[in-house]
Amino acid sequence: MKLQVESFGSETEWARGIADRWQERLTANPALRHCLAAGLTPVRIYAEMIRRVREGSARFGDARIFLLDEYGGLAPDDPGRCANMLRRFLVDHLDLPPSAFFTPSVDAPDLDAACREYDATIGGGFDLVLLGIGTNGHVGMNEPGTPVDIDTHRAGLHVETVTSSARYMNHDRFPTWGLTIGLRPLLAAREVWLLATGAAKAGIVARLLAEEAHSDLPASWFRDHPNARLFLDRAAAGDVLA
Ligand code: PGA
Repeated sequence: MKLQVESFGSETEWARGIADRWQERLTANPALRHCLAAGLTPVRIYAEMIRRVREGSARFGDARIFLLDEYGGLAPDDPGRCANMLRRFLVDHLDLPPSAFFTPSVDAPDLDAACREYDATIGGGFDLVLLGIGTNGHVGMNEPGTPVDIDTHRAGLHVETVTSSARYMNHDRFPTWGLTIGLRPLLAAREVWLLATGAAKAGIVARLLAEEAHSDLPASWFRDHPNARLFLDRAAAGDVLA
């Protein structure tokens, strides 16, 4: 396994440690092309980066951000939409030009065409990808069973993922599908950071560290990525690193 594992004593230290590395990457390459997850896991890291932009120690003026995935069937202004969450928790508070934030066109009549268009916009790929790990091992909407060589695609959500989307919704019309960047461009990224916090993720983290790469556990493909890190807080690390 090439995956490098780093665990932190608390979620606050975890967020600061990851933000330190992110700031370094941006300093080394101000035109960093990011793929970023919405969801709750990265919110503390995003808050740290906003703070650093405000104090002048980080800048996104030449960077690009691509949204990892988006729920289908929600109104464009639904606060649970991934783009709206990422705007609220990060993008709206950065010095990033609005034209440098890219999202898949989940409302397009032709979703296949929308996926190919997103792949074309992604073009040369990502310098840095941040991914939360779902409790069933998904990354983005690449659910267990997803082919490893897939590009941006329409994905059906597993029951567990539909249920956990409730955390993001202020209604009960939970999404059942979405568009997601596929495993192929994620695995082609120059650097990938897998994120997990909290005791609810300890089980999937233990599996990720114990099992060989296989498609029932999509996050496991990153075990053999040449430049991937798994960042854990104490609760998500559970017993495996004790
Ligand atoms: P979370 O979700 O960041 O809200 O824990 C992770 C995921 O399900 O992808």
